[in-house]
Amino acid sequence: MINLETISGLPLELDEKTFKLKFNPPLAEIIPDIRKFSDMIPVLIDRSAEPKSKVEEMYYMYRDIHLPADEAVIRKNNIRYDITVIPPVMIGKEFNKTVGHYHPIIPGSQKMSYPEIYEVLEGQALFLIQKMDQDFKQLISFYGIVASVGDKVIYPPNYGHIIVNIGKGVLVTGNWTSYGFKSLYEPIKDRHGMAYYVLTDDIKPFVMVKNEHYADHPPVRMLTVADKIRTEFGFESTKPMYTSGINNPKLLEFLNNPTKYAIELSTITS
Ligand SMILES: [Fe+2]
Repeated sequence: MINLETISGLPLELDEKTFKLKFNPPLAEIIPDIRKFSDMIPVLIDRSAEPKSKVEEMYYMYRDIHLPADEAVIRKNNIRYDITVIPPVMIGKEFNKTVGHYHPIIPGSQKMSYPEIYEVLEGQALFLIQKMDQDFKQLISFYGIVASVGDKVIYPPNYGHIIVNIGKGVLVTGNWTSYGFKSLYEPIKDRHGMAYYVLTDDIKPFVMVKNEHYADHPPVRMLTVADKIRTEFGFESTKPMYTSGINNPKLLEFLNNPTKYAIELSTITS
């Protein structure tokens, strides 16, 4: 079992064999949504490839995790804390990943969609984020961020995103999000994934390969986990994001009201 309590701020463990979370008291058990291999086929570089060891369950999404004592703060602030568990399964040469989505535009927000903030709880992640024009026809920009345990990554408004498990072990991420919006999966599914695929390589830790279902491929910009996330959004690298958010929900105000934080959010990708 991997103990996630110190890093997540919640009494959680992860079973390394089943990749399921164990919820210790006073947490109530949550049944995960499971992403099956058949759900992922449309977004793979090689849609005839099969996962090594023929597993059917590719990753697990646990939504709305919180301590009973924190429920009032969470509901009042219209936020939700989720955990995603992505096992280390290769699909041909491609690393396991989430299928990816965009978020909907927030009514009255000057065409901004909901942002999101992630934290790595275990393993090694490559976050890919990309922006297209309003009609999802032209790719405007594409970023990658390699992140390790404790690193926090913000998806700015209007960026689609996926998480790739580029490590040898399981990848576990936590995220704060606005409560209750519906993600848009079609723009990524229709183009068979993000604008680049992430594959294994004999020399480098990974390589990025263009997805030819996009007409344009602006160069990949690799960003480091920005200090600005800590300084401008107030999160400390040494503290679990869950705990920081509960102790000071104002830190998460940008999730529901990004217009107020438009300048700070625009600096993330600059
Ligand atoms: Fe998202």
